[in-house]
Parts: sequence; structure tokens; C-alpha cells
Amino acid sequence: MDMTTTLVDHTFRKDVRRCFEQQTYALPARWLYDRRGSELFEEITELPEYYPTRTETKLLRDHGADFAKAIGEGRAVIEFGSGSSVKTPHLLRALNPAAYVPIDISGEFLEHSAAILQEDFPDLPIHPVEADFMTRVELPDAVADLPKLGFFPGSTIGNMIARSSVDLLRFMRETLGIGSQLLIGLDRVKDPNVLIDAYDDSAGVTAQFSLNLLDRINRELEGDLPVEMFRHVATWNDDYARVEIYLEAQADMTFSIDGKKHGLSKGQRIHIENSHKFGLRDARLMLRAGGWSPLCDWSDEQDYFTLILAEAHPYKHAP
Ligand code: TRP
Repeated sequence: MDMTTTLVDHTFRKDVRRCFEQQTYALPARWLYDRRGSELFEEITELPEYYPTRTETKLLRDHGADFAKAIGEGRAVIEFGSGSSVKTPHLLRALNPAAYVPIDISGEFLEHSAAILQEDFPDLPIHPVEADFMTRVELPDAVADLPKLGFFPGSTIGNMIARSSVDLLRFMRETLGIGSQLLIGLDRVKDPNVLIDAYDDSAGVTAQFSLNLLDRINRELEGDLPVEMFRHVATWNDDYARVEIYLEAQADMTFSIDGKKHGLSKGQRIHIENSHKFGLRDARLMLRAGGWSPLCDWSDEQDYFTLILAEAHPYKHAP
């Protein structure tokens, strides 16, 4: 067992213990993405109801000439939470950048996707960085003097609560520096039924994805949670403008995890994800709060998803 595994194991255990012992009934969404969870998420991105991935990918594919014009060639593209980097080729092709720096917390994933990307872009210098991007990241010396474009697709910022999203934008500003640009993908506020369907599909893949978290607890933390007695719930919280995902106990139950007994009453929900949706003004306010001035944006014809290009200007004094 390597260091990373031990650390993940320890934090997972701690988070699960807090959920049931201190009765917070919340689990960080990052634990959804074990091997099985990552496979299921890939499946989600191809579901007819799950529009974000295909809408954003189409925007990236269709607006290459606009990006070239607004961003220009020769920047270093820094991608935050690159994962499998599937959307990146469209952007790289449009921009002909001087370097590409994928940042991801999972080193294994990172090297693998960098190698695959290198095949398609043999002349592009690629410098993977294994790091948690929720804090300032030390970029490789090779890109120190290059103008930079941060790339943060997938509306991942929507999975953070407001203050964390602004913290993150400020860290990105520090990481990239004044004069840098940021291209960020944001999922839009829309008909709640469309949103709910995207997070509770008719084939039940999203439900499997959520419930896999309980399986993971059973597998990795010696648990005996009765997974079949839970149901996946997706609700629209209009006040917070977000989809909330829960696992709901459908009966009173007792179970043990890690040798400790716990109980849940019928109807108790465990909160496992928030996915905030944005109006254009909300999005611009959030970016400005994080130190980024919006320059322009691109949306699909249904206004389901938007890419915003912003720039880190020096701070000006308020009037
Ligand atoms: N965070 C992604 C999103 O908000 C992933 C996601 C899709 C997700 N479906 C989910 C997370 C269901 C938890 C449960 O779109």
C-alpha cells in the first residue's frame, strides 16, 4: 500500500465516521469517484438526459476560431482537475499553445492521459502537475515566462459552495498571475425538470453512481450498510440555485462500519453532492468576486451551458 492509498483511506474513514457519529449526514462528493464510480460517471456523461458534457464539448468544438481570436496563440494552457482531458484536444487545436499543464490530484490518471494526448500533439510540451488545485499551485519553471490561460471546464466550480468557489478563483489568480486568462465552463439555470432528469436518469445510471458510495463504504471500511434499502434523490433547491443529491434511508435500519454500530431512521437523507447552476450575471459576479474580469462568453442555442473567458486585471481602487 503506498502513501496515497493510506492517506485516502484515512480521510475517507474520518469523513464517514463524522457523517454517522456526529450525525452530519453529509459525505464529500470526492468519495464518489473510486474506480467503479469513475466508470459510472463516464456512463453518465453519455446519457441522453445528461446534457452538460456534450453541450460543453460542442461549444469547444464549434468556437475554435473565436478562441483563437480572443485568446491568441502561444499561451501555456493550464487545466485545473484535468482528469481524462477529453475536452482538451478541441481547445489545444484551436489555440496552438506553447505548452500544456494538466493539474490533477490523481497522479496515475494524470500520466496516462498526458501520454495519450502527447500522441495527438507530438510537438506540444506537456508538463503534468500532481496537485490539489483547491490551493495555490506551483507551476513548472518551463512555463514561468509564458502568458497563461487557465482552463476549468465541466462546471466543476458549481460543485462548490459560494465561498469555496470564490476562494478557488482567487487561488487560480495567484497561481496564474496578473494578465492571465481563464476559460471556465458553467452550467446554466434552466427548467428544473430538465435539471432533475439530468441527475436522475430513466436508466438509473446516476442512482447506481450515488449508491456506489455505500458499496464503497462496505468494501473499504468493513461496513454492512443495506444498500438496497436506500434510494437516490435529486432535488432542485431554488433558493441556492442548485441540484442537491441525497441517499435516503427507506426504512429504519442499523448497520456497522469499522466495527461500530450506527442507525438511521426512515426518511433520513445523506447529502452527497451540490451542483450549482448559474445565470449569466451570477456567473460574472462570482468571477469578479474571485478577481477575474469577464471578457466574453459563448452559449449553446438553448442557453443550457456557457463558456466564459475572463482576465486577471490588476486590482483597482473602488470609487
Ligand atoms: N459533479 C457533476 C455534476 O454536477 C457530476 C455528477 C453528475 C453527479 N451526476 C451526479 C454527482 C450525481 C453526484 C450525483 O454534474
